Amino acid sequence: MTQDEMKKEAGWAALKYVEPNSIVGVGTGSTVNHFIDALGSIKEEIKGAVSSSEASTKRLEELEIPVFDCNEVGGLDVYVDGADEINADKEMIKGGGAALTREKIVAAIADKFICIVDDTKAVDVLGQFPLPVEVIPMARSFVGRELVKLGGDPAYREGVVTDNGNIIIDVYGLSITNPKDLEDKINALPGVVTVGLFAHRGADVVITGTPQGAKIEE
Ligand code: 5RP
Repeated sequence: MTQDEMKKEAGWAALKYVEPNSIVGVGTGSTVNHFIDALGSIKEEIKGAVSSSEASTKRLEELEIPVFDCNEVGGLDVYVDGADEINADKEMIKGGGAALTREKIVAAIADKFICIVDDTKAVDVLGQFPLPVEVIPMARSFVGRELVKLGGDPAYREGVVTDNGNIIIDVYGLSITNPKDLEDKINALPGVVTVGLFAHRGADVVITGTPQGAKIEE
């Protein structure tokens, strides 16, 4: 089974958490694209979605799934999104697709975070995947120097502008043994919009696509 087929297993299995007549929080990425396709198959049964990126909004609209502004909805039952890495405590690195800030906002208004991944994403310690940080452009050098002080090796993601008009710094070489603490420290740096550590708001349910089908951990 290919990695993309495992992503598809996970994406379609997440439908089980979608309540009839609800508005669903939708993340970003290739795994979520499968979930969006799955949502399209039940679009008559849901009210619509709140999207975490321009890319997901476009895909939802192509399937004629209504997209609501985050400010229009009081809250969401579920938010479904992928991850770049996830540990046994359901803490994640996200932002490989540069959508981390909007993802964190939509995750924050949801009761349940359903993380959909293929089985290459599970790790013992977060940090092998470079940690994305969304930064206001004028703070790029300052934040880079501060990230070095925190033990990282920052690299500017060339040519990427986020949906919010900012840049991404990817931090290499971290072994993140205390994700909540590092999330607090990086978020506190002036100029940082969001760090792609989802430790304070981790996942509630993990659906892993495997060659044997979707495995669910609640
Ligand atoms: C985007 C993300 C994605 O969820 C993450 O990069 C995983 O992507 P994929 O499902 O394509 O492997 O955080 O900002």
